[in-house]
Amino acid sequence: MTEKMVLMQERATKCAEEIKKHDEVQLVSHIDADGITSAAIIAKALERADIGYEMMFIKQLDENIIQKLADINPELTIFTDLGSGQLEHINSYKLNSVVSDHHHPQGNIELHLNPHLFGANGSYEISGSGTTFILASQLGDNRDLADLAIVGCVGDMQYRRHGQLVSMNRCILDTNRDVISPKKDISLFGKQTRPVYKMLQYSSDPFIPGLAGNEDACIELLSNVGLQFSDDEKWRRWIDLSEDEKMRTTSFLIQYCMQNGMSSYNITRLVSEGYILLNEQEGTEMRDATEYSTLLNATGRYMRAEIGMKVCMGEREKTYRQAQDLLSNHRKNLVDGLNFVKDNGIIQLSHMQYFDAGNYIPETIVGIVAGMSHFSVGNRNLPIIAFADKDDGYKISARGTQELVNRGLNLAEALKTVCKELRGAGGGHDIAAGATVPLGKKEDFIHMLNSVLSTQIKRT
Ligand code: C5P
Ligand code: C5P
Ligand code: ZN
Repeated sequence: MTEKMVLMQERATKCAEEIKKHDEVQLVSHIDADGITSAAIIAKALERADIGYEMMFIKQLDENIIQKLADINPELTIFTDLGSGQLEHINSYKLNSVVSDHHHPQGNIELHLNPHLFGANGSYEISGSGTTFILASQLGDNRDLADLAIVGCVGDMQYRRHGQLVSMNRCILDTNRDVISPKKDISLFGKQTRPVYKMLQYSSDPFIPGLAGNEDACIELLSNVGLQFSDDEKWRRWIDLSEDEKMRTTSFLIQYCMQNGMSSYNITRLVSEGYILLNEQEGTEMRDATEYSTLLNATGRYMRAEIGMKVCMGEREKTYRQAQDLLSNHRKNLVDGLNFVKDNGIIQLSHMQYFDAGNYIPETIVGIVAGMSHFSVGNRNLPIIAFADKDDGYKISARGTQELVNRGLNLAEALKTVCKELRGAGGGHDIAAGATVPLGKKEDFIHMLNSVLSTQIKRT
């Protein structure tokens, strides 16, 4: 075990000692897949330790919410997948708290479990669900929850930097192979649940020119591979293909991509490591970590995180059907959002590109649309910034690439700097960050951010 992991465990032991002193605690978590899995992990661990809890899911932690919590005055609040950016407020309202998070810390508290405190990077070494899994491990034997920890970090795209999970994420994966298993396979989304031609048609990461969005071309390609493609066979999913059919399709696809101008970087990304939840049924979203995390995002980002949490805690049937309904709505919103960006275009400045979704794309998913558009219609040499309307201002989501980060890009720092001037609030990670700014400040924001980014990104 690495030194960082040992230090995290020591801190988790202290946090767990505090938790065990209480009969009932308040839980506060983020509405995305990482936040929902974090909530489910700590809630299961508390149930097993016979400790009661109240759950609260939020879009973002700010002073108002901390003040409301202080009014409720719980014996102990456990923040998961958020909190590290608001430690000063947590202190000033004297909220007795444990914070299990992976965002850049701002301020200090004693019971703080965060990789940045131990020399690790919270954008790829461990996520909120991972820190919370380490915490849960100090509350009892909760090894079976490792699969949820992996779903959370996959939801935060932590595998992207190295094409697979590394560091503490890897340690969680490798020590719990009886519940979660890595598998090298085609990297496209939907292997468990989509017919193969739909999986190709909706490819976004990597985006396949000529196939993405073109059903006929996808069906033709599969017929050329020699797959049985009668009306009955048309619905076969990737998991229904034989190993030989999978191999033939993958090599044919690689050849197709080479002939159709896909970059060699993206071609290498067509095959990657995926993560299989061994206790889940084949052919369901929950069997595959990427599909599972999308199912959870489809609940939380529409203010129904409790449904995702119940699925994580083992509820199926009606709850799962509710989650699936939310998922089809989420997919439709993503397709509409991507079409909006394609139709309205992206404006390029010297050091960034941006689009303004107004009230067309919900602010809770504009970051996902920005990330996906960056692969399809965006310019990968510039960070992409998206705006969406909020009642009292603008939501901003920013996404970069690993190459830009290597050249100096740090979106969390850039957004924080600009927000300080404009009385907004922002943070996140080097490669992906978000912010809100007050009404009327959009133009200032754009120009100031472009200028800050010009000081960060070095020429190659
Ligand atoms: O709030 P949080 O830390 O959970 O979110 C991380 C965000 O960063 C996710 O929206 C994820 O999609 C994004 N990300 C990314 N590329 C990476 C790593 C993270 O777009 N390489
Ligand atoms: O909302 P979005 O998906 O764009 O968020 C990207 C990253 O920025 C996430 O890690 C999120 O927690 C963080 N963020 C933040 N402060 C905000 C908005 C987002 O730290 N006001
Ligand atoms: Zn997270």
